[in-house]
Amino acid sequence: MRRKSNIHALIILLLTTVALLSCVSKNELDLYGTPDCDTTNVTWNSKISAIMQVNCVVCHGEEVSYNGVRHDSYKSEMIVVNDGRLRGVVNHLNGFAKMPKDRGKLPACELKLINIWLDNGAPEN
Ligand code: HEC
Repeated sequence: MRRKSNIHALIILLLTTVALLSCVSKNELDLYGTPDCDTTNVTWNSKISAIMQVNCVVCHGEEVSYNGVRHDSYKSEMIVVNDGRLRGVVNHLNGFAKMPKDRGKLPACELKLINIWLDNGAPEN
């Protein structure tokens, strides 16, 4: 009798542990969304410039620069940082053109890095 209730207690303990563990990993996903997204040291030179090169410079660079917007240098980037257009277009906020054009939002990690960068005052280095 006693042994049986010990086994029951053990099973309950095990199930509770499993349930708790799955909770923890879910919350981590909720919090960070993008598990492999390295959000340390987000600067123009470390991360943002590369994101722009891959996703934006084809339409906003030396050869083509729609709306006069260029994403191929820190100096030109700061124009749309300071007037709020960068945050508006990448987050698809109301009243802004949606960028990258016709391609949906940037992947979660890239978008997150841009927003972190903007929140931190858009540092160059
Ligand atoms: C395929 C071409 C293309 C790509 C790629 C692209 N854009 Fe654009 N972008 C445009 C065009 C065209 C406009 C002019 C407005 C319009 O037609 O929607 C524009 C306008 C803008 C503007 C100005 C909006 C305004 O209200 O004046 C910003 C800022 C901008 N893009 C940022 C970006 C960013 C950031 C990326 C990359 C994440 C990007 N664009 C990728 C074509 C592109």
